[in-house]
Amino acid sequence: MTTIRDVAKLSGVSASTVSRVLNKNGYVNQETEQKVKQAIQKLQYEPNAVARGLASKKTGTIALILPNITNPFFPELARAVEDVARSYGYTVLFGNSDDQGDKEKSYIEVLKQRYVDGIIFSSHTLQRDDVVRLRSNKIPFVVLDRAPVGEACSVVRSNNLEGARMAVRHLLDRGSRKIAHIYGPQEILTAKERLRGYEETVKDFGWYTPTLMVPGNFRLDGGMSAAKELMQRHPDVDGIFVGNDLMAVGVLKTLLRMGIKVPEQVAVCGFDGIHLTEAVEPEITTVAQPIYELGALATKLLIQKVNGVDVENKVHELEVTLIPRDSTRKDTSL
Ligand code: RIB
Repeated sequence: MTTIRDVAKLSGVSASTVSRVLNKNGYVNQETEQKVKQAIQKLQYEPNAVARGLASKKTGTIALILPNITNPFFPELARAVEDVARSYGYTVLFGNSDDQGDKEKSYIEVLKQRYVDGIIFSSHTLQRDDVVRLRSNKIPFVVLDRAPVGEACSVVRSNNLEGARMAVRHLLDRGSRKIAHIYGPQEILTAKERLRGYEETVKDFGWYTPTLMVPGNFRLDGGMSAAKELMQRHPDVDGIFVGNDLMAVGVLKTLLRMGIKVPEQVAVCGFDGIHLTEAVEPEITTVAQPIYELGALATKLLIQKVNGVDVENKVHELEVTLIPRDSTRKDTSL
């Protein structure tokens, strides 16, 4: 394979001069530039993209680290990131951290080799030391959905607190009189904020007790087991706010297996707005995040950072929307 050194030899210049011609950075006189271009053409030299990237510190590639690609929320997020990245001429590398901090750190190490121009982190395991290391290595990054605590950086996420309040108010408005919450892992900021939103909204009701809050894991099985635990604890619950849609599908499955009618006996409201909520029966009411906008904004911010724009490190919080469906249909017999 022809290398940059072959081109340098044929054109009688150094490899760094050839690199300056290739990357259009630094002065090369016209005669030398012409000789190098003729040598490139004669040798059919194809610059190695990674090598060129290392020289010019630009590879035209960004990375998106997702925490759990089996949850449909994240592929829908990735769709937006890829669409917007490609519209700016960037390729996207995807990584799945499996909600594991050490796996995410190994990604940071690999990506630190400058094989990418920037990284979008959509994970809850990013810690302060990771942020400090990314900064010291001058790797542009944006955090999507789950912000690391304690470090100022560019974050794009939804208004989880208000979304939780919307879910509970909707259940109250449709007639539910004892509302429970199945929540996501509390080490994840989004789950923590939704639980807080639930508690703030129901804590003054006479029927409220902390045992109405049951832990889940943001996955289908966690929704199933939490629903069983909840209905054994409180068989008189008639409304459930579930911390994400994937668990809400699991809740629906368990309630139907227990012979509990949705929404006649128990109304169910999820959170995220993934398409899966329309594929089940009854279709699930949800607090929809602006998933595409979240991914698109994070990508635009990152590409600005990659191109040297001084982007302010702040939290961009987008509003959510309640989508009422049959799983909370008002019981007309009330
Ligand atoms: O469903 C996965 C959840 O993890 C979503 O609610 C998203 O906000 C992320 O935090």
